[in-house]
Amino acid sequence: MPKRVVLAYSGGLDTSVAVRWMIDNLGVEVVALAVNVGQDGGTLDEDAIRIRAEAAGATDCVVVDAREEFARDFLVPALKANALYEGRYPLVSALSRPVIVKHLVRTAREFGADAVAHGCTGKGNDQVRFEVSTRAIAPDLEVVAPVRSWGLTREDCILYAYDHGIPIGATKEKVYSIDDNLWGRAIECGEMEDPWTVPPSTVWSLTRQTATEARDLVIGFERGVPVTVDGEALGLVELITTVGAVVGSYGCGRLDMVENRRVGIKSRETYECPSGLALIAAHRDLESITHERDLAREKQRLEIRYAELVYDGLWFSPLRQALDAFVEESQRFVTGEVRLHLEPGSCQVTGRRSDYSLYDYSLATYDAADAFRHEDSAGFVRLWGLGLETWAARQGSPAAAPGDG
Ligand code: ARG
Repeated sequence: MPKRVVLAYSGGLDTSVAVRWMIDNLGVEVVALAVNVGQDGGTLDEDAIRIRAEAAGATDCVVVDAREEFARDFLVPALKANALYEGRYPLVSALSRPVIVKHLVRTAREFGADAVAHGCTGKGNDQVRFEVSTRAIAPDLEVVAPVRSWGLTREDCILYAYDHGIPIGATKEKVYSIDDNLWGRAIECGEMEDPWTVPPSTVWSLTRQTATEARDLVIGFERGVPVTVDGEALGLVELITTVGAVVGSYGCGRLDMVENRRVGIKSRETYECPSGLALIAAHRDLESITHERDLAREKQRLEIRYAELVYDGLWFSPLRQALDAFVEESQRFVTGEVRLHLEPGSCQVTGRRSDYSLYDYSLATYDAADAFRHEDSAGFVRLWGLGLETWAARQGSPAAAPGDG
């Protein structure tokens, strides 16, 4: 049995009750750790968090601003990999868990704790990410998952908090499970558990359309890292926040999908990721002019695998490290600018340029400047089709193939 536990603390009802519950039921000391990864626009109320953690019985409460680290060490690699789970979801929650685990482990060492804890249920992906990541970087630490075992309903939790003098703020009925950070926001549960139901407009907060005038947004990249917006150099956190605010104000960046969870459940998910989706669209487009064809194709194959690894809680794995080395090498010439055009409800790439562009006007053009050797094509195309020609002559054309009847 552990003696001292560091809990990933959000300041919400579940993790507040978890503090008290672990003290009372496991006889442990609890250190609460709140990690700022940009949730609620980065406006983490440290004092409120401390007061609540201590009221719940935490012996210490540590608050870490990990936004810069999260952006640099987690979001940027994922952006370079154009990481989209099942081709769509930019891994908002999946990317934040390993950075939180890093700080859980660091804090556990600092406080001489022998376990870490999280407030995830037994049905989701986040428990997988917390636990697998912890085992990968600190196999000696135990992982405690109180919410998975306590069997309390939401009403039970509210009563428990009330009985134990834990201030929980407004107890208005919480319909949705929300997780957010710099890369976007995930909204689950409520009526959206029916995949046919239209998400109520009230669930959106980062993508409410307020802008009415069309505009452009030019993103500048250096070796795959976004560094400027409309020519102005910005630090990563500010850049991501700015892009998210602008793109979101045009109502862009929403996703509504049914995805495959690691634990075998299909779940209906709604996301709003104006920053993540716009930056990936821009980055991917810049690669279209700076990547040689075979590099581009191989990278696209690996991107799928990369996203699956991150989703499945395998951030700290040799394969992710090796893929990152490949991706990093591929970014050497991904330097240049991409123009996004924004109109209410639409965000489209309308231009890209790079000093390293492989786009060659004299090869591509149909006008007088054309330098392409048209005469070379005749022999090339003949040889390209030679195998099929032989096959058609000896074994018949596909139209005449058996079974096509
Ligand atoms: N389905 C997404 C994922 O697995 C979002 C999870 C959101 N987490 C939450 N606790 N609401 O990455």
